[in-house]
Amino acid sequence: MCRLILTLSLLATSAWCLLPAWGEAPQKVVEIATVDDLVAEINSKIELLTQQVASADAFAKTHEKKEVNQAAGVIACMAQAIVEHPDKAKAKFHAADVRDAAVALRAAKTFEEATKLVGVVKDAHAGTTSGSGKSEAEWNKLTSQGRMMEEINGRSATIRRSLRRLPKPDETARDCTTLAILALAMEADTHEVKDPAQLPLWKELSVKYRLEMTAMAKAVRAKDTAKANEHFTAANAACNKCHEQIRDKGK
Ligand code: HEC
Repeated sequence: MCRLILTLSLLATSAWCLLPAWGEAPQKVVEIATVDDLVAEINSKIELLTQQVASADAFAKTHEKKEVNQAAGVIACMAQAIVEHPDKAKAKFHAADVRDAAVALRAAKTFEEATKLVGVVKDAHAGTTSGSGKSEAEWNKLTSQGRMMEEINGRSATIRRSLRRLPKPDETARDCTTLAILALAMEADTHEVKDPAQLPLWKELSVKYRLEMTAMAKAVRAKDTAKANEHFTAANAACNKCHEQIRDKGK
C-alpha cells in the first residue's frame, strides 16, 4: 500500500514537472540583457507610441498595420524582463505597472482609447503609479505572436544593414538583446503548434534563436563582425526551419 502511494505521488510529481509553468521566463533575464538596455528599449518604444497617437490621421494609418499593438507588446516583454531582473531597482518606474498598462494598450481600437491608454503607459513610465502590478506574469500573454514576428522581421533587417560596418555597436547589440528577450515570449507561446509531437521542436528552435541572438549581442559589442555574422546566420536558420516545419506544416 505504502509503495502504491509512493508510486502514485511520484507519478503526480513527474506529471506536474511536465506542465509548462510560464510564470517566469525560461532563462534568467540577467543572462540576456541589462536593465539599462531594457529601459532604453522601453524609452524608444514610448517615443514611437507618442508619434503613433500624435493625430487621428497618424493613428488611423499605424492602427491599420497593428503597429500600436506591436510596440505595446515589445514594451510589455521588456517591462516583465525588468520585473524579473536582479537589478530592477535601476529602473525609475514600477516595471509591472508599465507592463500592465502596455498589455491594456494592445487592445485599443479607437484613437480616443489609444490616446488615453498611451497616457496610462506614460504615467507608469514616469514612475507616478503606485506599484500595484503583480510581479508574476505569463510570458505567452504579453505580446501577440504575429506582432512579435513582425517586430523580429523589421529589426532583423535593421541588424543586417548595420552588420556591414557596425557604425553603432551598442544600438545593434540592443537590437539583438531585444530579440532575445522576445524569444522568451516565443518559447512560451506554443499555441501555433497544432501537433503536440512538435512541441519539443518549437522549444528547440526558439531556444536556439534566443541563444544565438544573445551570443550575437556580445560579439557585436566586441565589434567582432565575423562572429556576429555567424550567430546571425545560425539564428536565421531557426526562423526558416520553424516556418517550414511547424508554421507551414500541412499547408
Ligand atoms: C519557433 C518558431 C518560429 C521561429 C524561430 C520564428 N518564427 Fe516567424 N512565425 C512563426 C509562426 C508560428 C508564425 C505565424 C504567427 C501568426 O501569424 O500569428 C510566424 C510568422 C512570421 C511572420 C508573419 C507575421 C504576421 O504578420 O503574421 C514573419 C514576418 C516572421 N514570422 C518572421 C520571422 C523571422 C524573421 C524569424 C527569425 C529572425 C522568425 N520569424 C522566427 C514561428 C516562428
